[in-house]
Amino acid sequence: MPADPDFEALFAAAVAIQPRAYAPYSRFKVGAALLADDGAVHAGCNVENAAYPVGSCAEAGAIAAMIGAGGRAIRAVLVFGEGAELVTPCGACRQRIREFAAPEIPIAIAGPEGIRARFTLEELLPASFGPANLPR
Ligand code: THU
Repeated sequence: MPADPDFEALFAAAVAIQPRAYAPYSRFKVGAALLADDGAVHAGCNVENAAYPVGSCAEAGAIAAMIGAGGRAIRAVLVFGEGAELVTPCGACRQRIREFAAPEIPIAIAGPEGIRARFTLEELLPASFGPANLPR
């Protein structure tokens, strides 16, 4: 069993970046932070667009930051947003996370008061298709 990831550091990083989100259309700002295999924390926020489908999620930004920094594996994810409901990753972002994460990794969902729920990637994206499903 791997050691429990430092969700406090992920929470701090997601809370810090969330106000910088560009969300003039939904007015729903999201921050995401991930723990990479080398121990680094990378964060991202949603970036919307006047052409609505072109907007990107906070998780996509955090993954891009990790890849740009040289990271290749995700050990944990935390998503932070406001409102009463859980800010769980959208379907596309579940698959984006899967590219770099084992099904067992934890995904924490947080609101202003702290972590509200915790899932594994497998729970959010069961029987997923990942890099190992492709023939080499
Ligand atoms: N959003 C995220 O960035 N991450 C999530 O996990 C859920 C939704 C964004 C996309 C869009 O900019 C806004 O929240 C409303 O859906």
